[in-house]
Formats: sequence, C-alpha cells, structure tokens
Amino acid sequence: MSASRLDQLLDDRQRGSTLPQAFYTDPEVFAADIDRVYSRNWLFAGHSCQLRRSGDYVTFDTGPIALIITRDDDGVLHALANTCRHRGSRILSKTCGHAGKLVCPYHRWSYASDGSLTQAKWMGDGFRKDAYGLVRSHVREIAGLIFVCVAEDPPDFDLAHAAIAPQLAPHGLERAKVCAVEDYEIKANWKVVFENNRECYHCPSGHPEYTRINFDIGMPGDQRVGSDYEGILASRRARWHANGLAHTEQVNFPNGSWFRCARMPLREGFVTESLDGRPVAPLMGDLTDPDAGSLRIIAFPNAWFHANSDYFNSTQLIPVGPNRTRARIVYLVHEDAREGVDYDPARVTEFWKVTTEQDWRLCENNQAGIESRDYRPGPLSPVTESGVETLATWYLDQLRSPAVTRRSHACSSA
Ligand code: FES
Ligand SMILES: [Fe+2]
Repeated sequence: MSASRLDQLLDDRQRGSTLPQAFYTDPEVFAADIDRVYSRNWLFAGHSCQLRRSGDYVTFDTGPIALIITRDDDGVLHALANTCRHRGSRILSKTCGHAGKLVCPYHRWSYASDGSLTQAKWMGDGFRKDAYGLVRSHVREIAGLIFVCVAEDPPDFDLAHAAIAPQLAPHGLERAKVCAVEDYEIKANWKVVFENNRECYHCPSGHPEYTRINFDIGMPGDQRVGSDYEGILASRRARWHANGLAHTEQVNFPNGSWFRCARMPLREGFVTESLDGRPVAPLMGDLTDPDAGSLRIIAFPNAWFHANSDYFNSTQLIPVGPNRTRARIVYLVHEDAREGVDYDPARVTEFWKVTTEQDWRLCENNQAGIESRDYRPGPLSPVTESGVETLATWYLDQLRSPAVTRRSHACSSA
C-alpha cells in the first residue's frame, strides 16, 4: 500500500469510532498489519511446557511470518525461521511435535535445534555450512509463556515480564501439561476478533454461561458500577493476599504498551470458570485455595490468557487473511493430574468452548456486516467500550510508526 493511501486511511479514522471499512477488509491493509504490527511486536508463540525436552517444537505461521520455536540440548529456547536456507522450503508443517533434527523435506538439509546447519549433501567444495543457519528471531518467556519477535529491535519486554511474572508464577505453568487444543478458523479480520475480546457490552446477551460465573464489568475503562462488584473485589483481594497472591492490582497497557494483567473476581459461590463454577482439575502450581479468581492477561496483537486455580487456557490469534483469522486455544492442567481420574478434558474445555464459539459467531456476523456497502464507522460506547478504543489507538500507533526492520541474523555455528 502506498504511504499516502495508508496516511489517508489513518486520517479518516475518527477517535471513539470503529475503524473505516478498509481496515477490516482490504488486502493491502492486511499486508500492512503483518509488516507494521505483527512484524514489530512480541507475539505469543506457545507454552514452555510444550517444549519440555530438547527437540520439542511448536510452529507459528501467518504466511509471511513463519517460525519454529525449539529447545536445544542446553535447554535454551530458539525462534527460527521455518524457511530452509537452500531453496526456501517450509521445513516443518505440523503445529507442534518432536524432532531430533530439523530436516527439510525437499533436499534433506538438516539443522540442529539451535538452527545451525549440520548437513547439506552435494554442495561442492568450499560450501560453508556455517553461513547457512536458519534466520533467528527474538524469543523471551514469562512464567511459561513464550513470546517471539521478528523485528531487529523489539519493543520493551522487561516491563511486561515484571508486571506479569509475579502474578502468573504461582499458577505453575512450567509444571503443567497440555490437556486439550482447539483450533478454529474464524471468518473475520483479526481486529474484529480482538475488539470483541476487549469489551463485555455483548456479554449479557451473548454469553449466558460466562455471565453466570463472571461479572460483565470491571474491565479497564468500563464505567459501570455494580452494587456488589466492588465489595466482592475488595474481599477477594484480601483473601488472595492472605494466600500469597501478593500482586493483585490491575496493570492496564501502561503508557500505551501492549499488555494487561488483572486478577478478576468470580461471582459469589463460583471458584473457577467452569459451567457450574466448581473445580474441573487439581490445583495448579503453588496455589493452595481453589478461589484464585480469574487472572486475565492480554498481549496485543495476538493473544489473551485466563488462569484459573485448576486450569489455564491461552487463545492465540494467527491472522491469515483480511477476513480470516485462526484461533488456537490451548488448555493446561497440572502435570501430575491424571486424565480420567483427576480431570476430564471435555469438562475442562466446555466452559470456554461454549463461550468462544459464541464469540466466533458474533465476530463472523460482525465481519459480514462490515463487508456490506452500507457499513459506516459507528460510535463506541464511552461507558463500556473504551477497551476497544485502547486497542484501536495502540494499533493505529503501530501503523503510523516507521517501517520495521526485520531481523536477518542467521544461526552461524555449525
Ligand atoms: S529447499 Fe530445503 S533442502 Fe532444498
Ligand atoms: Fe465474548
């Protein structure tokens, strides 16, 4: 997209309104989203418990950004381009797995789990394997959550780590295991999907199961006051403090940053986000009380997380087109929990399965309306939708920022 057309679109956006149509539908805006938003920022890529052993891997693939995240023999994480240095083939096609070596399926070049090229037949005299390691990206971890960034200079990560790690660590994600994975392809732009996550205006009508357990207020900027919410929040915080969950203040996108972390209370009588509010698995990590509320973490532009006392789930967005977004939901339980004895995966997943599928229908319906010729940007509620404005402001700032320099360093040690 030409800079002037993008500038025009940016100028057309009115503060406090939804975005102009092109932001949700235009292939050139989608390309700009990948180049300026997804290529600039930290992206949630997976869980460290999925990479427990050397050789375990997960992949992340939007098309232009395609990465393999590995753990090497020394336990170090690597984010490597899933693009062979020979003629560019994708090396791995599964979303996760275990591979002693990363072997390209085309001509069998082999790479170690740190990305260095270890084998390449018939490349002639003078061929230097150490010049053809896989391109590396940045990788960081917060208490079991793995983030990657393909930019040369990633945004600050330490602030997010400092805010999130103390709150998340008691949930023991490094000592968890995958209970279930649900993959969806949503017929909607990734921003439609994330906007839906950033407001609970739709909750009372859209999510009867969710609102039975959760308050639909308490999100940052939501100006509604509930008669019992503040009192319950205060008493739960006192209880969480007493149980060693010391950091319970909300952190909401500080200074326009990319993350939020907040422990939210559930309604009276419910201790976890299950259909009946009762535990569905043993306590995780160091938790001693089933009532740990619901710790919410948001990471622009591609993930959100819910940590309950008995299970954890991540929602990872993978934009694959202007009106297509893949969502991958991974559920974790304590690594010692026995399937069929201590937990039933169907029961662990049922609350979010019903709730997220309601959301995807709302998002697809929203996208369909946005694509019609009669769509006009509409006003956001100042009472219930300031979270949508926060997302829009952050997103537009990314587009306005100078183009990103992609990281080009290759793994050089053979
Ligand atoms: S493209 Fe990978 S070995 Fe040829
Ligand atoms: Fe929703």
